[in-house]
Amino acid sequence: MNIDIKKLARTNILNMQPYSSARDESGGIQGVFLDANENPFGENNRYPDPYQQKLKQKISKIKKIEPNQIFIGNGSDEIIDHIYRVFCRPGKDKVLFFNPTFGMYQVAAELNEVEIIDIPLTPDFQINLEEAKKYFSDENLKVVVICTPNNPTGNHINSKDIDFILENFKGIVAIDEAYLEFSTQKSYLNQINNYPNLIVFQTLSKAWGIAGVRIGMAYANPEIIQLLNKVKHPYNISVLNQKAALEVLHNQEEFEKRVKMILSEKEKMKEEFKNIPIITKVYPSDTNFFLVEFTDANKVFQELLEQKIIVRNQSSKIKNSLRITVGSPEENEKLIQALKNIS
Ligand SMILES: Cc1ncc(COP(=O)(O)O)c(C=O)c1O
Repeated sequence: MNIDIKKLARTNILNMQPYSSARDESGGIQGVFLDANENPFGENNRYPDPYQQKLKQKISKIKKIEPNQIFIGNGSDEIIDHIYRVFCRPGKDKVLFFNPTFGMYQVAAELNEVEIIDIPLTPDFQINLEEAKKYFSDENLKVVVICTPNNPTGNHINSKDIDFILENFKGIVAIDEAYLEFSTQKSYLNQINNYPNLIVFQTLSKAWGIAGVRIGMAYANPEIIQLLNKVKHPYNISVLNQKAALEVLHNQEEFEKRVKMILSEKEKMKEEFKNIPIITKVYPSDTNFFLVEFTDANKVFQELLEQKIIVRNQSSKIKNSLRITVGSPEENEKLIQALKNIS
């Protein structure tokens, strides 16, 4: 598809001169660093690599893409914000997404004064294409966000609908694959070579298990990556966070073991839920959580809280429902016992 990214991006971003850090200007030469007013003593006294090259090398090997197709954010939250900053003029441009979905798409839009086109998911939590495509010709609609598998519903979005959007929408298509590793759905990552307007983003917070470290990855064509680099804060990923991310990525065996464990716990929980009378529905899940409908979700939520079991009440978005993360075997056992007692 022939899409001019420069025409989509905000002109002030295209024209601005990004901050040039001391380490940018020294061009990667290692030596006596007297250029950044750092303290010569102690650990972590040096600024981090602003472009996280070691980390990108590692990610590029795992994901089989080029380092210049990768942007690293302080969590995917930062990536969402940066996509809006690059492409949406405050007070003028729009983003479209499908609700209920991950709340940060809305918060970041409000923060950046981006108008929201909010399209409800169908009753089986799929994209309402008929509704969505009415907006594709709006030239102020700059970004469509698709969350697959979706939070909080837990299901994946049908790939034929995503393909339709990729084929027919000429703005930025941002696909959030935060829960991909728990799903059987294939990643859209390889499609970045076919669609210059596609941004796929993933995170180390879920399957990789380091939510506390705050690492999100965006994958896109190098032109988009350059624009994201322009708006990011110079040292957005700390030395400690780059190190922690590399450590976890080097231990792929442990990652695979843990994902397997979570998926097997998930199956056990699903079986247990069948024997709990206050549960009226367990929605299909391609993630590490369940959306569960109860006879009285608010009451169950409160009673669990009293037992110090914290789940997420989704009843304001989806009738009588709680979102329950798959925990460790001990944690899941506590939850199941508590639900049985409440029943
Ligand atoms: C769909 C989705 N995307 C992104 C995130 C946030 O990811 P990160 O921790 O990388 O900011 C979450 C967190 O719950 C999520 O559910």
